[in-house]
Amino acid sequence: MQDLAGKHIVLGLTGGIACYKSAELCRLFVKAGATVQVVMTEAAEQFITPVTMQALSGRTVYTSQWDTREPNNMPHINLSREADAIVLAPCSADFIARLVQGRSDDLLSLMCLARPMDRIPLLIAPAMNREMWAHPATQRNLMQVAADGATVLGVGNGWQACGETGDGRMLEPAQLLEDVTAFFSPKLLAGQKVLVTAGPTFEALDPIRGITNHSSGKMGFAIARAAREAGADVTLVAGPVHLPTPRGVARVDVLSAQDMLEATTRAAQSASIFVATAAVADWRPATQSNQKIKKDGSGRTPVLNFTENPDILLAVAKSERARSKKLFCVGFAAESENLAEHAKAKRERKGIPLLVGNIGPLTFGQDDNALLLVDANGVRELPRAPKLTLARELMTEIAARLPDWRV
Ligand code: CTP
Repeated sequence: MQDLAGKHIVLGLTGGIACYKSAELCRLFVKAGATVQVVMTEAAEQFITPVTMQALSGRTVYTSQWDTREPNNMPHINLSREADAIVLAPCSADFIARLVQGRSDDLLSLMCLARPMDRIPLLIAPAMNREMWAHPATQRNLMQVAADGATVLGVGNGWQACGETGDGRMLEPAQLLEDVTAFFSPKLLAGQKVLVTAGPTFEALDPIRGITNHSSGKMGFAIARAAREAGADVTLVAGPVHLPTPRGVARVDVLSAQDMLEATTRAAQSASIFVATAAVADWRPATQSNQKIKKDGSGRTPVLNFTENPDILLAVAKSERARSKKLFCVGFAAESENLAEHAKAKRERKGIPLLVGNIGPLTFGQDDNALLLVDANGVRELPRAPKLTLARELMTEIAARLPDWRV
């Protein structure tokens, strides 16, 4: 997806082994539609060559403030003025200290200092050894660069090139792409607390087996991501799915409908928007065996009895918080036919302001979908598109409805 179409990013590399990840980051920015101008410090050139970065960005790389290619010999001015953002990845401990001091004795630091702060944001992806990261000097410097207007994107945790394990790894290129994309997104849901349920539930029969469904969780995860991009504080209650947690989203993993009900009602107490995308099992086995149910050789098959599961959306929609219009509830309906009629009826039955209908068999597991939005004023179609695109459109639709609904 061309999430960064039309954006011009100056990608600054400083000295750190994480420079090897910057090659992939550059490629992802370009694939996302951005133009990328790479600027490297002398130390960065020890880790990766300008040739690699030139080939991936399609532009010659700048490494020196004395570069005579610029007619006015001022690459620090020219390069920064064109940028929609300067992204420093990796940003070493030393470079952060230099930013704090306003040093300007190489092209990259000079360019950061010379950037018009009101127009050109500076995003920093730190990368260093865990002891360097934890050092009070680094933490103090990070607070200062943030206070000076930079956005610090955080670090990863794990195995480090030095052989130690801990905080300080540069975020992975895909995570950085997600963060930079979110940074550019309009903050339509700033100040909102969004709660999303996603995926199937798993209703155990015994410790080995259970009943579940084909929901992949992709739509709900896309909604959580889109809500975070739109500036909301997001909690995602997820059934058993193998999907990476969207950046900046608090995830609570659950298995059964009952677990999901508990986690959701807890989070709903402070949420302002609830989007129920989970395909909650309607029934669970009436009894659960503590041990595996064995064949006894007689050829007899077990008889299963079921109990109805709680309706999570209905429970939340009936809560005091939803009824007093502090919580905007959105339901999903997966139908196999007569989408509009079923969706309208379901919205009434659940007593919610907005219901999103889709045709279940056409969407389960897919990366795209088509949605039908049903509210008190009627029906609106969101034509087939990638789930993330639809999720973003849905966030816009929700944001647009909030002011009128709350009065
Ligand atoms: N939902 C829920 N808890 C349940 C069942 C459904 O929160 N136990 C939510 C889903 O997340 C979705 C909406 O309710 O947002 C779906 O409504 P539902 O009436 O369950 O739809 P269907 O199961 O498709 O209903 P029906 O069998 O009547 O078609």
